[in-house]
Amino acid sequence: MKVDRSNGLRGTMTVPGDKSISHRSVMFGALAEGTTRVRHFLSGADCLSTIDCMSRMGISVEKDNEELLIHGKGLHGLTAPTETLDAGNSGTTTRLLSGILAGQRFSSRITGDSSLTSRPMKRIMEPLTQMGARIRSEQGNGCAPLIIDGAPLQGITYHTPVASAQVKSCILLAGLYAEGLTRVYEPALSRDHTERMLRAFGADVATDADGSIVLTPGRKLTGQAVEVPGDISSAAYFLAAGLLVPNSEIILENVGLNPTRDGMICVIEKMGGQMTFLKRYHEDTEPAADILVRPSQLHGTVIEGAIIPTLIDELPIIAVMAAFAEGETIIKDAAELKVKETDRLALITENLTRMGADITATDDGMIIRGGRPLHGAAIEVQGDHRMAMAFAIAGLLTGDMEIADAACVSVSYPTFFETLKNLSR
Ligand code: S3P
Repeated sequence: MKVDRSNGLRGTMTVPGDKSISHRSVMFGALAEGTTRVRHFLSGADCLSTIDCMSRMGISVEKDNEELLIHGKGLHGLTAPTETLDAGNSGTTTRLLSGILAGQRFSSRITGDSSLTSRPMKRIMEPLTQMGARIRSEQGNGCAPLIIDGAPLQGITYHTPVASAQVKSCILLAGLYAEGLTRVYEPALSRDHTERMLRAFGADVATDADGSIVLTPGRKLTGQAVEVPGDISSAAYFLAAGLLVPNSEIILENVGLNPTRDGMICVIEKMGGQMTFLKRYHEDTEPAADILVRPSQLHGTVIEGAIIPTLIDELPIIAVMAAFAEGETIIKDAAELKVKETDRLALITENLTRMGADITATDDGMIIRGGRPLHGAAIEVQGDHRMAMAFAIAGLLTGDMEIADAACVSVSYPTFFETLKNLSR
């Protein structure tokens, strides 16, 4: 895919459905009694992997006009898969589903593509094993394929070393099948969609005064109507484009602004970016807003600590913004970037360097000295959707950007290039 310099992006766009919430709507819908109806479901490859896995365990999922219908079978209604469960590129599918699979009365095997099978799974195997689960890495390397033999589980109190919603959610989902309470402490608050949604489906999930999340088993889940807000992680590319590309004016409709996901908005404000919040909705469930964005002179900033989990997937595009901003941007406490779909720390550094940027990778982040003249380059994305989209936006400023393997955007944003074209002047 070749990206040329843009004369400005103008228009109104709808942001595709949130990936995290879409995954959860299928999983929780499957474990609920009755039908779950989902509006604005993200039909990206990752969420389709979750549907495929659930279908292999007897769950029927159908499309009805604009809605996705999940016909739940209750907490104990899944049936043994006849084949290996294929999570594709999706860490969320693998880790959340492992928590569910650990408490079933059958055995299963779950795996995925070459990126997924090199990502760390010990982070879920350890707490699940403490709960009594029988889970092992087939190759003995702490990665998928995972073999999970369903077993009786006990609730645990667990301090996760990483602030990861996938780890937290995995433990809480296993907790649905455990005897006694399950309590999770995180070093910083990760996205809380599991807590919000499990509660809406009827589970007993609370946040204690010390910040721990407690799940008390015993309640059944009931099918719900889920309204999926637009994914801020997808909006991020067009927020950045609207701020960076001269002559732009973009209205992004229905951008999810859950406070555990909105770190990118805080960073844009800290960098001097101008946004106008036009209309707000779903304040009582998953807050969202329409956002108007126009070009702004951005300056460097420091991004560290508790904000990192709230913008973890946005760091590739934030790094691109920093390269075009004036002055220095320092990103710290982001070692998790090394174990995403790719080693994003290495890939961001390599690709920005190819563009002529001044960037230094550190152990847990990077230092970007912005404002250097940048040029288009051949960009290596290694199948990583977020890398492809971040550097496509950079290409709107430099021109001559060659992105190999750009089709991988289908993982989270199948219509990304179409939307880019529609907004182009
Ligand atoms: C996700 C959690 C995050 C995020 C991923 C989606 C989720 O991963 O990077 O894209 O839906 O729970 P970690 O929990 O590993 O940080």
